[in-house]
Amino acid sequence: MRSIPAFNNPSMHAQTAPASLPPQPVLRIRGLCTEFPTPRGPLPAVQDVSLDVPVGGCVGIVGESGSGKSVTFASVMGLVRAPGRVTAGQVWLDGTDLRTLDEAAMRRVRGKQIAMTLQDALTALNPSLTVEHQLVEVILAHDDDVSTLPWWQRRRRARTRALEMMALVGIPTPETRLQDYPHHFSGGMRQRIMIAIALACKPRLLIADEPTTALDVTIQAQVLELIASLRQSLGMSVVLITHDLGVVAERCDRVVVMYAGQVVESGTTAEVIGSPRHPYTRALLRATPRVEDLAQAVQPIAGTVPDMVDFPAQCHFLERCTQRQDACHQHIALAFAPGTHQARCVLANGGLS
Ligand SMILES: Nc1ncnc2c1ncn2[C@@H]1O[C@H](COP(=O)(O)OP(=O)(O)OP(=O)(O)O)[C@@H](O)[C@H]1O
Ligand SMILES: [Mg+2]
Repeated sequence: MRSIPAFNNPSMHAQTAPASLPPQPVLRIRGLCTEFPTPRGPLPAVQDVSLDVPVGGCVGIVGESGSGKSVTFASVMGLVRAPGRVTAGQVWLDGTDLRTLDEAAMRRVRGKQIAMTLQDALTALNPSLTVEHQLVEVILAHDDDVSTLPWWQRRRRARTRALEMMALVGIPTPETRLQDYPHHFSGGMRQRIMIAIALACKPRLLIADEPTTALDVTIQAQVLELIASLRQSLGMSVVLITHDLGVVAERCDRVVVMYAGQVVESGTTAEVIGSPRHPYTRALLRATPRVEDLAQAVQPIAGTVPDMVDFPAQCHFLERCTQRQDACHQHIALAFAPGTHQARCVLANGGLS
Protein backbone atom coordinates (compact mmCIF):
# COMPACT_ATOMS: atom_id res chain seq x y z
CA MET A 1 0.00 0.00 0.00
CA ARG A 2 1.24 3.51 -0.81
CA SER A 3 1.39 6.10 1.89
CA ILE A 4 -0.83 9.16 1.78
CA PRO A 5 1.01 12.38 1.03
CA ALA A 6 -0.15 15.12 3.42
CA PHE A 7 -3.80 14.17 3.22
CA ASN A 8 -4.82 16.78 5.76
CA ASN A 9 -3.76 19.56 3.41
CA PRO A 10 -6.64 20.29 1.01
CA SER A 11 -4.51 22.65 -1.08
CA MET A 12 -2.65 19.62 -2.51
CA HIS A 13 -5.73 18.80 -4.58
CA ALA A 14 -5.94 22.17 -6.24
CA GLN A 15 -4.44 20.76 -9.44
CA THR A 16 -6.59 17.65 -9.67
CA ALA A 17 -9.99 19.07 -8.69
CA PRO A 18 -11.39 21.42 -11.35
CA ALA A 19 -13.11 24.45 -9.80
CA SER A 20 -16.44 23.75 -11.50
CA LEU A 21 -17.33 20.44 -13.12
CA PRO A 22 -20.10 20.31 -15.72
CA PRO A 23 -23.45 19.53 -14.08
CA GLN A 24 -24.40 16.59 -16.36
CA PRO A 25 -22.32 13.61 -15.25
CA VAL A 26 -21.21 10.96 -17.71
CA LEU A 27 -22.44 8.28 -15.29
CA ARG A 28 -25.25 8.71 -12.79
CA ILE A 29 -26.20 5.88 -10.44
CA ARG A 30 -29.24 6.17 -8.19
CA GLY A 31 -30.50 3.72 -5.59
CA LEU A 32 -28.71 0.71 -7.09
CA CYS A 33 -29.35 -2.60 -5.30
CA THR A 34 -27.91 -5.99 -6.25
CA GLU A 35 -28.32 -9.27 -4.42
CA PHE A 36 -27.15 -12.87 -4.59
CA PRO A 37 -29.22 -15.77 -3.27
CA THR A 38 -27.53 -17.92 -0.62
CA PRO A 39 -28.83 -20.97 1.28
CA ARG A 40 -29.31 -18.66 4.29
CA GLY A 41 -31.26 -16.02 2.35
CA PRO A 42 -30.47 -13.17 -0.06
CA LEU A 43 -27.10 -11.43 0.28
CA PRO A 44 -27.62 -7.71 -0.47
CA ALA A 45 -24.14 -7.06 -1.88
CA VAL A 46 -25.04 -3.56 -3.12
CA GLN A 47 -27.56 -1.49 -1.19
CA ASP A 48 -28.97 1.82 -2.38
CA VAL A 49 -25.77 3.00 -4.04
CA SER A 50 -25.90 6.47 -5.61
CA LEU A 51 -23.00 8.33 -7.16
CA ASP A 52 -22.03 10.53 -10.10
CA VAL A 53 -18.98 10.46 -12.34
CA PRO A 54 -18.43 13.96 -13.80
CA VAL A 55 -17.37 14.33 -17.45
CA GLY A 56 -13.58 14.10 -17.53
CA GLY A 57 -13.49 13.41 -13.78
CA CYS A 58 -11.72 10.67 -11.87
CA VAL A 59 -13.72 9.12 -9.03
CA GLY A 60 -12.05 6.81 -6.53
CA ILE A 61 -14.05 3.98 -4.97
CA VAL A 62 -12.51 2.71 -1.75
CA GLY A 63 -13.46 0.28 0.97
CA GLU A 64 -12.42 -3.01 2.52
CA SER A 65 -12.64 -6.31 0.73
CA GLY A 66 -16.25 -7.43 0.29
CA SER A 67 -17.71 -3.92 0.54
CA GLY A 68 -19.42 -4.19 -2.85
CA LYS A 69 -17.09 -2.13 -5.06
CA SER A 70 -16.77 -4.65 -7.89
CA VAL A 71 -20.40 -5.80 -7.76
CA THR A 72 -21.57 -2.17 -8.02
CA PHE A 73 -19.73 -1.70 -11.30
CA ALA A 74 -20.49 -5.19 -12.59
CA SER A 75 -24.12 -4.10 -12.08
CA VAL A 76 -23.47 -0.88 -14.04
CA MET A 77 -22.00 -2.95 -16.89
CA GLY A 78 -24.88 -5.45 -16.85
CA LEU A 79 -22.40 -8.18 -15.95
CA VAL A 80 -24.03 -9.63 -12.84
CA ARG A 81 -24.70 -13.26 -13.68
CA ALA A 82 -27.82 -15.14 -12.53
CA PRO A 83 -28.79 -16.10 -9.93
CA GLY A 84 -27.38 -12.74 -8.81
CA ARG A 85 -29.57 -9.84 -9.92
CA VAL A 86 -29.95 -6.09 -9.82
CA THR A 87 -33.15 -5.54 -7.85
CA ALA A 88 -33.54 -1.75 -7.96
CA GLY A 89 -32.09 1.53 -9.10
CA GLN A 90 -31.14 3.43 -12.23
CA VAL A 91 -27.87 3.72 -14.11
CA TRP A 92 -27.70 6.56 -16.63
CA LEU A 93 -24.86 6.86 -19.10
CA ASP A 94 -24.98 10.23 -20.84
CA GLY A 95 -28.69 10.37 -20.08
CA THR A 96 -29.55 6.82 -21.27
CA ASP A 97 -30.93 4.52 -18.60
CA LEU A 98 -28.79 1.41 -19.10
CA ARG A 99 -31.21 -0.74 -17.12
CA THR A 100 -33.81 -0.33 -19.84
CA LEU A 101 -31.47 -1.69 -22.56
CA ASP A 102 -31.58 -5.28 -23.78
CA GLU A 103 -28.45 -7.45 -23.88
CA ALA A 104 -27.64 -6.62 -27.52
CA ALA A 105 -27.77 -2.88 -26.79
CA MET A 106 -25.71 -3.36 -23.62
CA ARG A 107 -23.06 -5.21 -25.63
CA ARG A 108 -22.73 -2.14 -27.85
CA VAL A 109 -22.39 0.09 -24.80
CA ARG A 110 -19.73 -2.16 -23.27
CA GLY A 111 -16.41 -1.60 -24.92
CA LYS A 112 -17.64 1.29 -27.02
CA GLN A 113 -18.87 3.69 -24.35
CA ILE A 114 -17.84 2.13 -21.06
CA ALA A 115 -14.92 -0.21 -20.66
CA MET A 116 -14.01 -2.05 -17.50
CA THR A 117 -10.68 -3.62 -16.62
CA LEU A 118 -11.36 -6.49 -14.28
CA GLN A 119 -9.62 -7.07 -10.99
CA ASP A 120 -7.67 -10.16 -12.03
CA ALA A 121 -5.94 -9.65 -15.37
CA LEU A 122 -4.92 -13.29 -15.77
CA THR A 123 -8.41 -14.68 -15.41
CA ALA A 124 -10.01 -11.74 -17.24
CA LEU A 125 -7.95 -12.40 -20.38
CA ASN A 126 -8.73 -15.53 -22.38
CA PRO A 127 -5.75 -17.85 -21.77
CA SER A 128 -6.28 -19.79 -25.00
CA LEU A 129 -6.23 -16.82 -27.38
CA THR A 130 -3.29 -14.68 -28.43
CA VAL A 131 -3.18 -11.05 -27.41
CA GLU A 132 -3.56 -10.14 -31.08
CA HIS A 133 -6.75 -12.16 -31.34
CA GLN A 134 -8.23 -10.57 -28.21
CA LEU A 135 -7.33 -7.01 -29.18
CA VAL A 136 -8.34 -7.36 -32.84
CA GLU A 137 -11.74 -8.85 -31.95
CA VAL A 138 -12.56 -5.89 -29.73
CA ILE A 139 -11.42 -3.39 -32.35
CA LEU A 140 -13.38 -5.12 -35.13
CA ALA A 141 -16.50 -5.18 -32.95
CA HIS A 142 -16.40 -1.65 -31.57
CA ASP A 143 -14.11 0.71 -33.47
CA ASP A 144 -16.16 2.62 -36.04
CA ASP A 145 -13.01 3.75 -37.85
CA VAL A 146 -12.33 0.09 -38.60
CA SER A 147 -15.80 -1.42 -38.93
CA THR A 148 -16.81 1.09 -41.62
CA LEU A 149 -13.85 0.14 -43.88
CA PRO A 150 -14.35 -2.31 -46.81
CA TRP A 151 -14.25 -5.82 -45.33
CA TRP A 152 -10.90 -6.74 -46.94
CA GLN A 153 -9.17 -3.82 -45.23
CA ARG A 154 -10.68 -4.27 -41.79
CA ARG A 155 -8.46 -6.98 -40.31
CA ARG A 156 -5.21 -5.35 -41.43
CA ARG A 157 -6.33 -1.98 -40.05
CA ALA A 158 -7.43 -3.64 -36.79
CA ARG A 159 -4.01 -5.28 -36.48
CA THR A 160 -2.26 -1.94 -36.99
CA ARG A 161 -4.51 -0.42 -34.38
CA ALA A 162 -3.75 -3.31 -31.98
CA LEU A 163 -0.05 -2.58 -32.41
CA GLU A 164 -0.66 1.11 -31.75
CA MET A 165 -2.57 0.28 -28.57
CA MET A 166 0.17 -2.05 -27.31
CA ALA A 167 2.77 0.65 -27.95
CA LEU A 168 0.53 3.19 -26.21
CA VAL A 169 0.39 1.11 -23.02
CA GLY A 170 4.15 0.69 -23.10
CA ILE A 171 4.63 -2.91 -24.30
CA PRO A 172 8.15 -2.94 -25.79
CA THR A 173 8.48 -4.17 -29.41
CA PRO A 174 4.75 -4.91 -29.75
CA GLU A 175 5.12 -6.50 -33.19
CA THR A 176 7.09 -9.33 -31.57
CA ARG A 177 4.51 -9.79 -28.78
CA LEU A 178 1.21 -9.82 -30.68
CA GLN A 179 1.28 -13.60 -31.13
CA ASP A 180 1.97 -14.26 -27.44
CA TYR A 181 -0.62 -15.70 -25.05
CA PRO A 182 -1.51 -13.97 -21.75
CA HIS A 183 0.67 -16.34 -19.69
CA HIS A 184 3.73 -15.17 -21.65
CA PHE A 185 3.42 -11.72 -20.07
CA SER A 186 4.34 -10.54 -16.58
CA GLY A 187 1.59 -9.39 -14.21
CA GLY A 188 2.26 -5.70 -14.96
CA MET A 189 2.17 -6.30 -18.70
CA ARG A 190 -1.09 -8.23 -18.44
CA GLN A 191 -2.59 -5.26 -16.62
CA ARG A 192 -1.40 -3.04 -19.47
CA ILE A 193 -2.86 -5.38 -22.07
CA MET A 194 -6.19 -5.31 -20.26
CA ILE A 195 -6.02 -1.53 -20.32
CA ALA A 196 -5.12 -1.63 -24.03
CA ILE A 197 -8.18 -3.79 -24.73
CA ALA A 198 -10.36 -1.54 -22.58
CA LEU A 199 -9.10 1.60 -24.31
CA ALA A 200 -8.99 0.24 -27.86
CA CYS A 201 -12.31 1.86 -28.71
CA LYS A 202 -11.75 5.13 -26.84
CA PRO A 203 -14.52 4.70 -24.28
CA ARG A 204 -16.21 7.71 -22.67
CA LEU A 205 -15.72 6.04 -19.31
CA LEU A 206 -13.06 3.66 -18.03
CA ILE A 207 -13.83 1.61 -14.93
CA ALA A 208 -10.51 0.33 -13.62
CA ASP A 209 -11.04 -2.29 -10.92
CA GLU A 210 -7.86 -2.55 -8.85
CA PRO A 211 -5.68 -1.84 -11.90
CA THR A 212 -2.52 -1.86 -9.84
CA THR A 213 -3.11 -4.62 -7.29
CA ALA A 214 -0.20 -7.03 -7.16
CA LEU A 215 2.07 -4.71 -9.15
CA ASP A 216 5.31 -3.41 -7.76
CA VAL A 217 5.45 0.29 -6.98
CA THR A 218 7.27 1.32 -10.17
CA ILE A 219 4.90 -0.51 -12.49
CA GLN A 220 1.97 0.71 -10.39
CA ALA A 221 3.07 4.31 -10.98
CA GLN A 222 3.47 3.65 -14.72
CA VAL A 223 -0.01 2.14 -15.07
CA LEU A 224 -1.59 5.03 -13.13
CA GLU A 225 0.37 7.55 -15.16
CA LEU A 226 -0.83 5.88 -18.34
CA ILE A 227 -4.48 6.09 -17.23
CA ALA A 228 -3.98 9.75 -16.28
CA SER A 229 -2.41 10.65 -19.62
CA LEU A 230 -5.12 8.84 -21.59
CA ARG A 231 -7.73 10.57 -19.48
CA GLN A 232 -6.25 13.85 -20.59
CA SER A 233 -5.64 12.99 -24.26
CA LEU A 234 -8.96 11.20 -24.83
CA GLY A 235 -11.04 13.37 -22.46
CA MET A 236 -12.10 10.14 -20.79
CA SER A 237 -13.75 9.86 -17.36
CA VAL A 238 -12.35 7.31 -14.94
CA VAL A 239 -13.63 5.27 -12.01
CA LEU A 240 -10.68 3.95 -10.03
CA ILE A 241 -11.59 1.10 -7.68
CA THR A 242 -8.83 0.55 -5.16
CA HIS A 243 -7.93 -0.36 -1.60
CA ASP A 244 -5.22 2.23 -1.73
CA LEU A 245 -6.06 5.62 -0.25
CA GLY A 246 -2.65 6.94 -1.28
CA VAL A 247 -3.54 6.32 -4.95
CA VAL A 248 -6.90 8.01 -4.44
CA ALA A 249 -5.34 11.04 -2.77
CA GLU A 250 -2.95 11.46 -5.68
CA ARG A 251 -5.18 10.66 -8.63
CA CYS A 252 -8.86 11.28 -7.94
CA ASP A 253 -11.07 14.41 -7.89
CA ARG A 254 -13.80 12.74 -5.87
CA VAL A 255 -13.98 9.78 -3.51
CA VAL A 256 -16.77 7.36 -2.68
CA VAL A 257 -16.20 5.22 0.42
CA MET A 258 -18.12 1.94 0.53
CA TYR A 259 -18.71 -0.29 3.52
CA ALA A 260 -20.73 -3.52 3.64
CA GLY A 261 -22.66 -2.79 0.45
CA GLN A 262 -23.39 0.88 1.10
CA VAL A 263 -21.87 4.23 0.24
CA VAL A 264 -20.93 5.57 3.66
CA GLU A 265 -19.20 8.78 2.58
CA SER A 266 -18.68 10.74 -0.62
CA GLY A 267 -17.26 14.11 -1.56
CA THR A 268 -14.25 15.73 -3.15
CA THR A 269 -10.92 14.11 -2.39
CA ALA A 270 -9.96 17.10 -0.26
CA GLU A 271 -13.19 16.79 1.75
CA VAL A 272 -13.16 13.04 2.29
CA ILE A 273 -9.42 12.60 2.84
CA GLY A 274 -8.83 15.99 4.47
CA SER A 275 -11.93 16.16 6.73
CA PRO A 276 -13.57 12.73 6.85
CA ARG A 277 -17.03 12.67 8.43
CA HIS A 278 -17.70 8.95 8.81
CA PRO A 279 -15.97 7.00 11.61
CA TYR A 280 -15.21 4.26 9.05
CA THR A 281 -13.38 6.68 6.72
CA ARG A 282 -11.42 8.01 9.68
CA ALA A 283 -10.53 4.45 10.70
CA LEU A 284 -9.44 3.64 7.12
CA LEU A 285 -7.19 6.69 7.12
CA ARG A 286 -5.68 5.74 10.47
CA ALA A 287 -4.97 2.31 9.01
CA THR A 288 -2.97 3.89 6.14
CA PRO A 289 0.63 5.08 6.57
CA ARG A 290 1.30 8.80 6.10
CA VAL A 291 4.38 10.09 4.38
CA GLU A 292 4.79 13.05 6.73
CA ASP A 293 4.41 10.96 9.86
CA LEU A 294 6.07 7.62 9.28
CA ALA A 295 6.94 7.37 12.98
CA GLN A 296 3.25 7.03 13.85
CA ALA A 297 2.12 3.41 13.80
CA VAL A 298 -0.83 2.57 11.58
CA GLN A 299 -3.92 1.44 13.49
CA PRO A 300 -5.72 -1.53 12.00
CA ILE A 301 -9.53 -1.47 12.18
CA ALA A 302 -10.62 -3.97 14.81
CA GLY A 303 -13.21 -6.56 13.77
CA THR A 304 -14.39 -7.57 10.30
CA VAL A 305 -16.98 -6.52 7.72
CA PRO A 306 -20.34 -7.98 8.90
CA ASP A 307 -22.20 -10.79 7.16
CA MET A 308 -25.00 -8.97 5.36
CA VAL A 309 -27.42 -11.91 5.10
CA ASP A 310 -30.40 -11.11 7.32
CA PHE A 311 -28.59 -8.06 8.72
CA PRO A 312 -30.70 -5.90 11.06
CA ALA A 313 -31.71 -2.33 10.13
CA GLN A 314 -28.86 -0.46 11.78
CA CYS A 315 -25.61 1.26 10.89
CA HIS A 316 -23.46 -1.33 9.11
CA PHE A 317 -20.33 -0.12 10.90
CA LEU A 318 -21.96 -0.14 14.35
CA GLU A 319 -20.15 -3.15 15.84
CA ARG A 320 -16.72 -1.71 14.97
CA CYS A 321 -17.46 1.93 15.70
CA THR A 322 -15.92 3.62 18.73
CA GLN A 323 -18.54 6.39 18.59
CA ARG A 324 -21.69 4.24 18.43
CA GLN A 325 -24.79 5.39 20.25
CA ASP A 326 -28.44 4.33 20.62
CA ALA A 327 -29.48 6.25 17.51
CA CYS A 328 -27.29 3.97 15.39
CA HIS A 329 -29.64 1.01 15.97
CA GLN A 330 -31.88 1.89 13.04
CA HIS A 331 -31.60 2.39 9.31
CA ILE A 332 -29.22 5.26 8.55
CA ALA A 333 -29.96 7.10 5.31
CA LEU A 334 -27.63 8.91 2.93
CA ALA A 335 -29.63 11.53 1.06
CA PHE A 336 -27.39 11.64 -2.01
CA ALA A 337 -27.02 15.09 -3.54
CA PRO A 338 -24.51 15.60 -6.34
CA GLY A 339 -21.40 17.58 -5.52
CA THR A 340 -21.82 17.67 -1.76
CA HIS A 341 -19.87 16.05 1.05
CA GLN A 342 -22.00 13.43 2.75
CA ALA A 343 -21.72 10.64 5.26
CA ARG A 344 -24.13 7.89 6.29
CA CYS A 345 -23.72 8.57 10.00
CA VAL A 346 -25.92 10.04 12.73
CA LEU A 347 -23.00 12.29 13.65
CA ALA A 348 -22.97 13.86 10.15
CA ASN A 349 -25.69 15.33 7.89
CA GLY A 350 -28.44 14.49 10.42
CA GLY A 351 -28.40 11.14 8.58
CA LEU A 352 -31.35 9.44 10.33
CA SER A 353 -34.15 8.26 8.02
N1 LIG B 1 -21.06 -14.18 -7.85
C1 LIG B 1 -21.29 -13.98 -6.55
N2 LIG B 1 -22.09 -14.81 -5.85
C2 LIG B 1 -22.33 -14.62 -4.53
N3 LIG B 1 -21.83 -13.59 -3.82
C3 LIG B 1 -21.03 -12.72 -4.47
C4 LIG B 1 -20.72 -12.87 -5.86
N4 LIG B 1 -19.89 -11.86 -6.23
C5 LIG B 1 -19.70 -11.11 -5.11
N5 LIG B 1 -20.38 -11.63 -4.07
C6 LIG B 1 -20.42 -11.09 -2.71
O1 LIG B 1 -20.78 -9.72 -2.78
C7 LIG B 1 -20.09 -8.97 -1.79
C8 LIG B 1 -19.39 -7.81 -2.45
O2 LIG B 1 -18.35 -8.33 -3.27
P1 LIG B 1 -17.40 -7.42 -4.16
O3 LIG B 1 -16.65 -8.34 -5.06
O4 LIG B 1 -18.18 -6.35 -4.80
O5 LIG B 1 -16.44 -6.79 -3.08
P2 LIG B 1 -15.23 -5.77 -3.32
O6 LIG B 1 -15.56 -4.54 -2.53
O7 LIG B 1 -14.98 -5.61 -4.76
O8 LIG B 1 -14.04 -6.54 -2.60
P3 LIG B 1 -12.49 -6.68 -3.04
O9 LIG B 1 -11.84 -5.42 -2.54
O10 LIG B 1 -12.02 -7.89 -2.31
O11 LIG B 1 -12.43 -6.82 -4.52
C9 LIG B 1 -19.15 -9.93 -1.08
O12 LIG B 1 -19.78 -10.36 0.10
C10 LIG B 1 -19.03 -11.08 -2.05
O13 LIG B 1 -18.78 -12.28 -1.37
MG1 LIG C 1 -13.47 -6.15 -6.02
